Amino acid sequence: MKISPAARLDRFPTYLFDDLDRQKEEVRAQGTDIIDLSQGEPDIGPPEDVVEELAQRARTAGSHKYPSYKGLLAFRQAVSSWYANRSGVTLDPEHEVLALIGSKSGMGHLPLATVDPGEVVLVPNPCYPAYLPGILLAGGECHDLPLVKDKGYLPDLEAIPEAIARRAKLLILNYPNNPTTAVATLEFFHRVVEFARRYTIIVAHDAPYLEISFDGQRQPSFLEAAGAKEVGVEFNSFSKMFNMAGWRIGFVVGNREVIAALGTIKSNVDMGIYFPIQYAALKALNEKSDFVGEMAARYQNRRDMLVKGLAELGWPVQKAPATFFLWIPVPDQSPSAEFAMRLLQQTGICMTPGSGFGSYGEGYIRIALTVSEQQLNEILERLRCAGFVYQTPS
Ligand SMILES: Cc1ncc(COP(=O)(O)O)c(C=O)c1O
Repeated sequence: MKISPAARLDRFPTYLFDDLDRQKEEVRAQGTDIIDLSQGEPDIGPPEDVVEELAQRARTAGSHKYPSYKGLLAFRQAVSSWYANRSGVTLDPEHEVLALIGSKSGMGHLPLATVDPGEVVLVPNPCYPAYLPGILLAGGECHDLPLVKDKGYLPDLEAIPEAIARRAKLLILNYPNNPTTAVATLEFFHRVVEFARRYTIIVAHDAPYLEISFDGQRQPSFLEAAGAKEVGVEFNSFSKMFNMAGWRIGFVVGNREVIAALGTIKSNVDMGIYFPIQYAALKALNEKSDFVGEMAARYQNRRDMLVKGLAELGWPVQKAPATFFLWIPVPDQSPSAEFAMRLLQQTGICMTPGSGFGSYGEGYIRIALTVSEQQLNEILERLRCAGFVYQTPS
């Protein structure tokens, strides 16, 4: 029997990392040892006592049962307290907090819960590619919001055509931003609230890098903007904050109608999160703020090492203010995918071509700081030996 997949799958772009994985496999098969700077995945594990909590809870009677899709009340209370302490934001754990199987799953389901066919979704370009499939499945129409350097990689809301803004249902934002590493100010979030109110648009702020910020700067939550809860929600994740990427746990907070709608989708198409993971996550949130600070300091140190080393090789690097990425112009101005492929073949170093994040990402490459300091030195050496050097250091 010939199985034909649904036609809607034809509209999905190839997932960026599928292409990269294929290219990496080819290079690995030729015997090259790959250093992978392409994935936004912490190299260091979660805090030890959080792992211990998971193990102990797994041995507790009843922990194997189906969890509610909403998340344990204790988990939602921990999220609510964390927001109160961190941002001075009050959240009702019953209606304004929902546990998620990661931020990706929440952002993927959100359009199904909020967007009707033909409605417009305002999407940053470049952006984390996983935002797009949910919009396509919902029948939404994407309208790109260019993120360009001159505007600090913030979307120019006033440049959105009036007719588009009137048809828009959902606005997606992500700060600190993947891939550009840019941060947003509270003043920008105030303008977002005003814009969303003017056109009755739901705001979805995806903020998994909120705590990974450098040089002593603290990043604002979208919910700190007056009126934010009236127009939108914020997503966060334990993947980056506590290095729990494979554990699959995150949350969404804010507007109760949006959360109820997302809950309706979730309760029908997926499940709650394994109880032991929820208990371990709430322990992390309650007790492990030092760990988050230590990780941010570690990424900052790696950032400084790599920026210094690349600058000495003539690469046009800039220090990232947040996230664990560098976003830099392709040093020889060649197309980003071509550069990344050449780099991979000649050095075994894998970086992500900016074009994979959208047309406005062309001209850039993204480097993840998620390898050891020793490997960073090895990278610089490989680049130097293979001639990826662009000017004589002054
Ligand atoms: C902007 C952004 N949102 C969401 C995610 C996925 O987070 P999670 O592991 O919570 O699904 C990532 C992962 O790279 C990301 O960069």
